[in-house]
Amino acid sequence: MREKILELLNKKDFVSGNILATQLNVSRTAIWKQIKILQNYGYDIESVKNRGYRLISRPDIPRYEEISSYLNTEIIGKKLLYFDEIDSTNIYAKKLAKEGVSEGCIVVAGMQEKGRGRKDRIWSSPEGGLWFSVILYPRIPPQNAMIITMAASVSVVDAIIKHTNLKPVIKWPNDVLVRGKKICGILTELDAEMDRINYTVIGIGINVNNSISKSLKDIATSVKIETKNYCSIVELFADILNSFDKNYSFIKLGDFKCIRDAWLSYANIIGKNIRVDTENLPIEGLVIDVDSEGCLIIDSSKGKIRLSCGDMSFI
Ligand code: BTN
Repeated sequence: MREKILELLNKKDFVSGNILATQLNVSRTAIWKQIKILQNYGYDIESVKNRGYRLISRPDIPRYEEISSYLNTEIIGKKLLYFDEIDSTNIYAKKLAKEGVSEGCIVVAGMQEKGRGRKDRIWSSPEGGLWFSVILYPRIPPQNAMIITMAASVSVVDAIIKHTNLKPVIKWPNDVLVRGKKICGILTELDAEMDRINYTVIGIGINVNNSISKSLKDIATSVKIETKNYCSIVELFADILNSFDKNYSFIKLGDFKCIRDAWLSYANIIGKNIRVDTENLPIEGLVIDVDSEGCLIIDSSKGKIRLSCGDMSFI
């Protein structure tokens, strides 16, 4: 109902409570209650006796009411749960996935108290950033799951390019960097059996307008720092989802090539000398390929090595 009220108020002029009530087939009191909720959400709605309500401004908050008019997706974002604050969107999304929530459901938060990064690291998630998780049930073998994370990182880069003049690059496995500093991290979590994925939760964290703490300033940056401009979270978010939805439809059709090609063009890693710090030993060598499972194929002093995870740096 709130979405419909916003649609009717969008015309800029006053709309009477009576007209809203008639159009939505509810009482004027019901309309008034929804207007109060919208005002609490941060919508600036003027209310004048005998004239009605007028929408003055909308908040840049990634709620469904704000995102929906920008979305043209088939699966991703049809259901979207927004929280001002949460422990971790991934934790909540996994709970929903276990309960069988619809595919494409998104959990998004204004800030996270216990944002999680890869390798159990803490992910700083203050207000002003974009912190969300997407729940998917892909019918692909678990060993191919990396293609979904690749699709996510490609979608983030596509959207940043569309909204800014920045040139983000992907750093294997799936960090997005601008001028060598991390602007986005992705944590994909999987519940799988040998031959099938039960669910996957793709957690995406993007530094948009948030501040970056002093301790992270050397390694992390934000869209706002790089462009020196405020970036609309709602529009950036909608474009990531539109792009991710399109890429996910390729995955559903078994077409991984276009995602791998886009990923390779943003990562620019083949033929480069790198070092990967793995759980065991650091490995150095020349990247020959990134296979369809997202693994690096490296020509090292010990011969050809295939790596699925680790911290990579160029040497
Ligand atoms: C990384 O270490 O690079 C991955 C960071 C992933 C952070 C995102 S923010 C939204 C989602 N919820 C979490 O707790 N983590 C992911």
